[in-house]
Amino acid sequence: MLRKKKVKNHYPILVSLVFFIYISATAFILIFSASIGSVLASEKNLIGSLPYVTTLDVQDDFVKIDVDNTRLYYGPLVLVNNYYNCKFDGEELQTVLEKRSSFKYGASDYNVKVNRVVMENLDRMLSDFYNVTGKDNLYVVSGYRSKSLQAELYSEDAAKKAAENADGYKEELVAVPGYSEHQTGYAVDFSVIEEDGTMRELDNDGEYGWLLNNCTKYGFILRYPKDKVKETHIGYETWHYRYVGVPHAAYIMQNKLCLEEYIELLRKHTLSNPIHMTDGSMANWTVYYVPAQSGDKTSMRVPRASEYQICGNNCDGFIIAVKTA
Ligand code: DAL
Repeated sequence: MLRKKKVKNHYPILVSLVFFIYISATAFILIFSASIGSVLASEKNLIGSLPYVTTLDVQDDFVKIDVDNTRLYYGPLVLVNNYYNCKFDGEELQTVLEKRSSFKYGASDYNVKVNRVVMENLDRMLSDFYNVTGKDNLYVVSGYRSKSLQAELYSEDAAKKAAENADGYKEELVAVPGYSEHQTGYAVDFSVIEEDGTMRELDNDGEYGWLLNNCTKYGFILRYPKDKVKETHIGYETWHYRYVGVPHAAYIMQNKLCLEEYIELLRKHTLSNPIHMTDGSMANWTVYYVPAQSGDKTSMRVPRASEYQICGNNCDGFIIAVKTA
């Protein structure tokens, strides 16, 4: 007798399997998108509560003031390079050897002078350098330089280059007289005195790297970085630091800019679109640019109740830095 083979019906199992996969996939998608959503939401809250977001109201918290246009050429943010000469001859100069608070750093002689604000910050920076490294052999070998002293150095450098290599190109390390930021009193050169009495330029290596890593807390930048020769037109100077003020120094070094690039960037950031920045001490700043107006004065809006600084850029406008928290 022919026995009818019992054929198993797999259809319900297949349907259940498909249904199970569908439900699982749907559940997975829902759970995954919910978790992504919560990540995005928490990031949104974080951004909203970050301290650098200013609460200044552009309409209500500002007053209008007029600033004399001669101030365009003064202050720690002046850009002095091959294109923009220095319009003044030092300002509030102080002698480093007279004003230093300790003997933990030196200066070549009593001719080394810097601007008063630079002196305060330089003293704090070099004292802290000694406190951290125990090294007392850092020297300030150049600060303010008159145009005539710069002319002497420029001729010496030109003669040296000519003697060394008549045809070869060498990056400039000495600015044209009148176009050196040493004339402002805001620039300093450092050297190190070795145990045998020889002096060498600061190289920022080893423990001396502390200076490069911490200079922004005191308002200084390395003015002529290795990768910015095209912008500055000056060769890499490991020893030349420039005081620009704390918020600006922090932004410049955090964003690997040189002063030329920073001044250019600021031109895009007027009061309606300021830059928010946090300095090395976690203080928050709002910074904006005001183009100079024709005539004697420039009208600008400054905060009614917050601390602010106004500096000329030595080119075409003013930079306002407001401490926001
Ligand atoms: N060493 C810098 C470029 C100067 O001479 O001003």
